[in-house]
Amino acid sequence: MKNLLRGVSPSARYAVLGDPIGHSLSPKIQQAALRACGLPGEYVPLRVPSGSCGEVLSLLAEQGWIGANITVPLKTEALEWCQDCSVEAREIGAVNTVLFADRRGLNTDGPGFLRTLPDLTAPRALILGAGGAARAVAWALRQRGWPFFIWNRSPSRAEQLAEEFGGQMLPTPEVDVGDFNLVVNTTSAGLHGQALPVHWPTKGGGLALDISYGRELSPFLRSAAAFSWSVQDGRAMLLEQGALAFEAWTGLPAPREVMAREIEI
Ligand code: ATR
Repeated sequence: MKNLLRGVSPSARYAVLGDPIGHSLSPKIQQAALRACGLPGEYVPLRVPSGSCGEVLSLLAEQGWIGANITVPLKTEALEWCQDCSVEAREIGAVNTVLFADRRGLNTDGPGFLRTLPDLTAPRALILGAGGAARAVAWALRQRGWPFFIWNRSPSRAEQLAEEFGGQMLPTPEVDVGDFNLVVNTTSAGLHGQALPVHWPTKGGGLALDISYGRELSPFLRSAAAFSWSVQDGRAMLLEQGALAFEAWTGLPAPREVMAREIEI
């Protein structure tokens, strides 16, 4: 396992663990935040395959690292490794932030997403997908007190998630988003180049959010924009979850403007 750290800067004290990890923008925003606050230590990406998360976290803890972010597919393994977890991490069932000193796990995805939600007077929200990412979104919508529906390709997962977080499931194989004014895509369909069976209304529009980000808009956001919906990709959520993680590690207010500039929002 020590091989994993070969070539990693000796001053690294923070990391993001996941597989794949090359596309992650976390090193950019966190490194900029550390620099802006004059803090020592580097933040590095580590590719950690499924099944090895606990072992790697133990090694980093032994070596005196300060904090880590955890991403796909390791968030439940990280939860199992932690000795102590925040309420959010327990409720969402995933850890995306680790504090090594006391082996504590947090989930800042749910609270981070919550901070990116606009004010809506009559919210009618729909979550597309029912995997790990959808749990953080459902948690946030419940926290905000907004009623929400869940649609998933496999309806049984939508039913389970709706039951757990107090939403309602959409049982149809296709979705008419005209009934909603906030639609959040948490599926990985776009990553696989697959289209979602979503029908956009020809009149009016709401806000379409995608929790993923990339160089280009996702196919989901491209269709939303074509039907005059406002669109927002996952960078706003990335920023907020990262800022909350930074604050937990350092005890300092996160320099959000510096971090936002790094990812052009
Ligand atoms: P994550 O932790 O990123 O949410 P996940 O738990 O594997 O990853 O969930 C992926 C989600 O994307 C699921 O809701 C999945 O639907 P299924 O539960 O039916 O598998 C959804 N998904 C993936 N590819 C899809 C596609 N082509 N069309 C619709 N939904 C898709």
